[in-house]
Amino acid sequence: MTSSTGRELVLPDGFLMGAATSAHQVEGNNVSSDWWALENRAGSFVVEPSGDAADSYHRWPEDMDLLRRLGFNSYRFSIEWARIEPEPGRVSRAAVEHYRAMVRGAIERGLTPVVTLHHFTTPRWFAERGGWAAPDSAELFAAYVRTTLDILRAGVRYVATINEPNMVALMTAVHRLVVEHGWDGVIGTGDTGAAAGGLGAVEPAQDVTEALIRAHRAATTVLKSADLGLQVGWTVANQVYQAEPGAERVAAAYARPREDVFLEAARDDDWIGVQAYTRHRIGPGGPLPVTEGAETTLTGWEFYPEALGEAVRHTARVVGPDVPIIVTENGIATGDDERRITYTEHALASLADAMRDGIDVRGYLHWSALDNYEWGTYRPTFGLIAVDPHTFARNPKESARWLGAMARAGRIPPARTRASAGAPGAR
Ligand code: BGC
Repeated sequence: MTSSTGRELVLPDGFLMGAATSAHQVEGNNVSSDWWALENRAGSFVVEPSGDAADSYHRWPEDMDLLRRLGFNSYRFSIEWARIEPEPGRVSRAAVEHYRAMVRGAIERGLTPVVTLHHFTTPRWFAERGGWAAPDSAELFAAYVRTTLDILRAGVRYVATINEPNMVALMTAVHRLVVEHGWDGVIGTGDTGAAAGGLGAVEPAQDVTEALIRAHRAATTVLKSADLGLQVGWTVANQVYQAEPGAERVAAAYARPREDVFLEAARDDDWIGVQAYTRHRIGPGGPLPVTEGAETTLTGWEFYPEALGEAVRHTARVVGPDVPIIVTENGIATGDDERRITYTEHALASLADAMRDGIDVRGYLHWSALDNYEWGTYRPTFGLIAVDPHTFARNPKESARWLGAMARAGRIPPARTRASAGAPGAR
């Protein structure tokens, strides 16, 4: 199960090595957002609300100090639209100043900021008027993006317009089913689920896919015409669809609306963000469950670190060789930090193999810098740094020191251990 060729890879000059977060997941009290409304609605499916999260809205200097001290040279974070524009057209100058300070703070510390403009959450008012499905959603997004130029001109180079548009289109479809059939009718699998076949059979919302591509293009025009030298892209959830023998056509048809159309839309971009965690096997009848006995993580995903190299190769194939790749997310939800190290070691070995084969990769940003709010629950811990939920004290894990040392050395060593844990089950 080892994926390494047994050789180390010296990282190219300027390679970004760091970690990532998103505003809603770490800041706390994002009260004007659609997610806050959802979390605090009676009967909501979420296990627990985000509340104070990791209080990074106030503690970001400490987070950046830690990342720098650990050895990283980059930090990916997001700007919260709901804070910038809490009511339609009303821009909070204080919020703009807050994120300007973050950009300056990152640069002062030697952390290259990679800034996401939209990471799943929208202002509540935007959601209430139809969200991405509203006819003018792309224009509204572009108007917000224009207000972020004051933040970006503080020294940002890499901007991601929209995080995981493919997940947004899929989650919209799930949300519509919930409205129609109730939550219980949707999460059921097989013929008990509203999707008849479970969530895997849900088709992404086509209108939202189109709106997101329009929004990305409109945002890119705003960002490029500002002449700030911004490098603009978006970040796609790479699902690593693997066809079982004989299911190649089924897998390709399954992957296209769920991933490839979003990669194709990036062909003229300055870079593309790859986000990979695990694989999804597709049989002749569609998606297959995780193989019985395979190790799974706290999110229930198969422990499959090689997903990263495969995602990078697939992305390069679809987008083409001229668009550089930045790995903007890769990581594991686990309470066992040794498994985090093993997972990451093998993910990086598969990335190094892809780079040795000539794929232009410019950075690796681990998900996540901190244990954070995993969209409905704090249980799956993805962080390199633990956060005490009561005192908010930060405590770097061994994995943080291990990965930080690698960032400092500028090399990916060959994987030392076997990836397979032997024993199945979530850790
Ligand atoms: C998202 C993150 C999320 C992570 C782990 C990605 O889908 O961009 O917000 O926490 O995966 O589930």
